[in-house]
Amino acid sequence: MYAEKIKDYTIKKDAVILAIESSCDETAASVIKGGRKILSSEIMSSCLEHVRFGGVVPEIASRAHTTAISLVVEKAIKSANITLSDIDAVAVTYGSGLLGALLVGVSYAKTLAYSLGVPLIPVSHIRGHLSAAYLENEDLKPPFISLLASGGHTAIIVVKDYDDYQILGGTLDDAVGEAFDKVARVLGLSYPGGPNVENLARQGANAVKLPKMLKGEGGYNFSYSGLKTAVINYVHGKDQKGEVVNKADVAHSFQCSALDILIEKTILATKEYGVSTVTAGGGVVANGYLRENLTCACQKAGVKLVLPPKWLCTDNAAMIGAEGYIQYQKGNFADLSLNAVARINFK
Ligand code: KG4
Ligand code: ZN
Repeated sequence: MYAEKIKDYTIKKDAVILAIESSCDETAASVIKGGRKILSSEIMSSCLEHVRFGGVVPEIASRAHTTAISLVVEKAIKSANITLSDIDAVAVTYGSGLLGALLVGVSYAKTLAYSLGVPLIPVSHIRGHLSAAYLENEDLKPPFISLLASGGHTAIIVVKDYDDYQILGGTLDDAVGEAFDKVARVLGLSYPGGPNVENLARQGANAVKLPKMLKGEGGYNFSYSGLKTAVINYVHGKDQKGEVVNKADVAHSFQCSALDILIEKTILATKEYGVSTVTAGGGVVANGYLRENLTCACQKAGVKLVLPPKWLCTDNAAMIGAEGYIQYQKGNFADLSLNAVARINFK
């Protein structure tokens, strides 16, 4: 019956999409109109519950999603000033992420789509990060070069069309956010690592010699595991000799090495592919050093930068609504057998 109903569904240009995100420790819901207008965006995080474990504990995250999801969705509907009957489709992150965490969002979205008799749109979390830029600038149109830098992914992508991506290169080992989190741990900083490394780096200088990152020889690829190991060895070496480690300098030097290369290769891609717009997304793009230097580099290169605000770079449901709208326009709907997937790429 549900499948029959969806088969006859007419796609609307100004569709109101309710989006749900629960891939990690944020339970989020958002209402997006016409793919670009944020009517509401609500987030509840279990982040503080994970601090004493030094990272996200999947079971704790899943339980927190279970208790938060109804509340977050209700708040998103209320603050958007709509009712359930205004919802034209339900979009949900189905991967990548923690399986148990994803399942909470997927199950909730399925039930809601079924009970409202509206399409269910499966959304890739990574694509969501890329689509956050459409919310920042309503006039943004492909082609553009997108820098994706999150806890699970690092890549430079040519977005040729709304649903046509070419990945120029990515990390060969650790993702940049993962490297931030591991360096945070070795510096004795608590979870979440990235923002804590950034804060400490503000008090330091680029004074610690770290190995050069992959440059030309790596094409558009990156490697973070060597850099991470160099930081670990430097700190342990100093400790063993009983020497004081200037942690702020280590954080600053690591941040420069880890992020300068991302900016450099993003600008290189605009030149090689003749593209005059750059966008960026993913949690690491909330980093102030990256934002400032990417802005300067784009100005210098004469390319336009569409940089979503920090809250749209870290996990949220508005970006899932933006990407959901692209899939909605293509009629890419899921049936009720939709399952959560721990690791997917751009589909
Ligand atoms: O996009 P995101 O919220 O979740 C994933 O999809 O992975 O990204 C989380 C990652 C974490 O590794 C976190 O340490 C990093 O983004 N991150 C940062 C900053 N804020 C979050 N890294 C550096 N500086 C920040 N300010
Ligand atoms: Zn994310």
